[in-house]
Amino acid sequence: MKLLIINGPNLNLLGKREPDVYGNKSFDDFFADLQFHFKDIELAMFQSNIEGELVDELQQASERGFHGIVLNPAAYTHTSIAVADAVAAISIPVVEVHISNVMDRERIRHTSYVSKNASGTISGFGLDGYKLAIQGLKQQLKA
Ligand code: DQA
Repeated sequence: MKLLIINGPNLNLLGKREPDVYGNKSFDDFFADLQFHFKDIELAMFQSNIEGELVDELQQASERGFHGIVLNPAAYTHTSIAVADAVAAISIPVVEVHISNVMDRERIRHTSYVSKNASGTISGFGLDGYKLAIQGLKQQLKA
């Protein structure tokens, strides 16, 4: 099974960015943990601060052989119809992940344009949310 993690803007700063909200581990370090944890899955990861690059990556995932996507659209969750449309357009499952509990934060973060077409949403479990999302995708894809 081949899964792709896509991280949106500012998630390249994980570990340094607002550690009280997002923790102090870099995504690269966490990604190594994930690969160790899910030895049976081929994992890849893409991060961009650019909306169109996230759209391109979503569009190309299936033809590149990925079976599912774990997507943290970051701030584009709450603003981007283009990212939401890309999620709606593709046929492989997308699980939406937020490190923080967005519902316990400012009102602007309570709206997600992506959720409607995601096969599930995980929010508020820190980086472990990515593990939960992979677990969920694994079960969904096996069913
Ligand atoms: C986030 C939550 C978003 O509101 C925010 O803009 C982010 C990260 C999260 O993982 O908690 O950049 O998606």
